[in-house]
Amino acid sequence: MSTMVSKGYQSGFGNEFASEAIPGTLPQGQNSPQRVAHGLYAEQLSGTAFTAPRHLNRRSWLYRIRPAAVHQPFQPLAHASLHNRFDEVPATPNQLRWDPLPLATAATDFIDGLVTLAGNGGAGEQAGLGIHVYTANRSMQGRFLCDADGELLIVPQLGRLRIATELGVLEVEPQEIALIPRGVRFRVELLDDTARGYVCENFGAMFKLPDLGPIGSNGLANARDFLTPHAAYEDVEGDFELIAKFGGTLWSARIGHSPLDVVGWHGNYAPCKYDLRRFNTIGSISYDHPDPSIFTVLTSPSDTPGTANIDFAIFPPRWLVAQHTFRPPWFHRNVASEFMGLITGAYDAKAEGFVPGGASLHNGMSGHGPDAATFEKASSADLGKPDVIGDTMAFMFETRKVICPTRQALDAPQLQRDYYRCWQDIRKHFAP
Ligand SMILES: [Fe+2]
Repeated sequence: MSTMVSKGYQSGFGNEFASEAIPGTLPQGQNSPQRVAHGLYAEQLSGTAFTAPRHLNRRSWLYRIRPAAVHQPFQPLAHASLHNRFDEVPATPNQLRWDPLPLATAATDFIDGLVTLAGNGGAGEQAGLGIHVYTANRSMQGRFLCDADGELLIVPQLGRLRIATELGVLEVEPQEIALIPRGVRFRVELLDDTARGYVCENFGAMFKLPDLGPIGSNGLANARDFLTPHAAYEDVEGDFELIAKFGGTLWSARIGHSPLDVVGWHGNYAPCKYDLRRFNTIGSISYDHPDPSIFTVLTSPSDTPGTANIDFAIFPPRWLVAQHTFRPPWFHRNVASEFMGLITGAYDAKAEGFVPGGASLHNGMSGHGPDAATFEKASSADLGKPDVIGDTMAFMFETRKVICPTRQALDAPQLQRDYYRCWQDIRKHFAP
């Protein structure tokens, strides 16, 4: 029994990486030699169709102690609150907002603590997203998770996570994100007593960096700030559980060894992390606001150009300097549907009620925007000096399709049933 963990990260987004925990592991000049060094097996993990265009093609070669095929048969595994049933209740045009889920008290690991709030599409369609929140108070022990349905974008809000994957170890803290490719096996450990956060399960095309257009060759999230782990492996045998999310539900199989047994790998299909505080935030230096697409960190494209399956956007600390302009976000109705969460601090469109760990959902064409208190304050603010929004980190999962809340999300005591009231005090100022 041994483990080998390589420290540090490789920099870049979707690059061809190569990493080996034992020197001489990776074959030279070919992918699958008759005999792999150190008695390892060669296995390809593909994340896009074999024939996807070269600039979109993602796959990695793993050199591992045992192939991924070695495990007992899967059996269905019940889960009380994680699912992909987005047709349980009619989607509502009402504005929705939730308080944070309470932190777990019973022993709860990352898998136990997942609760599905909303979503659309599914693995069968290869489009849409699942929106989950998690709370946990202990590490996954003797079990491993693999999501065959989608890529996982993990957004910690409380507590640091150590995510041990087949391709190496990511450590993330609040204001960082982790991206786990579809099908990669992993274990989530807690580095603090408790953890809470959000998960976007992407059933569609893999997240990529958005094109920058006239912004130019730098800006927003810079590719070099995405960090991919070096190879790390566990040579451990025991009675373990491999949990697969497949077809919208969980499955469980016994496995006699740690599946995190990849000694070396090369390719461009790999987990990564990104510190949201590195985001290069761009905004108006004259008047008005750009559309919030200017805050896009990652985008999952759909088959329609310019119309994303999912955009992951953030609202980070920034200066507001626009002149003769209503500086907070304006009132709006969008064709897209918007799920928001708050990692830390306050969000500038709301005076109160949207708190770290909470969430809101404004579906397509549902009117929303600043609450009455924010509108009155911003309408008479002194624009002769800049405003700084220093303590904040909000984010949005925005999708082209309506985001359907689950029954448990609408029944939850955390749903703020008086949310609509935040706009009821908006006064009529009309004076022709
Ligand atoms: Fe909005």
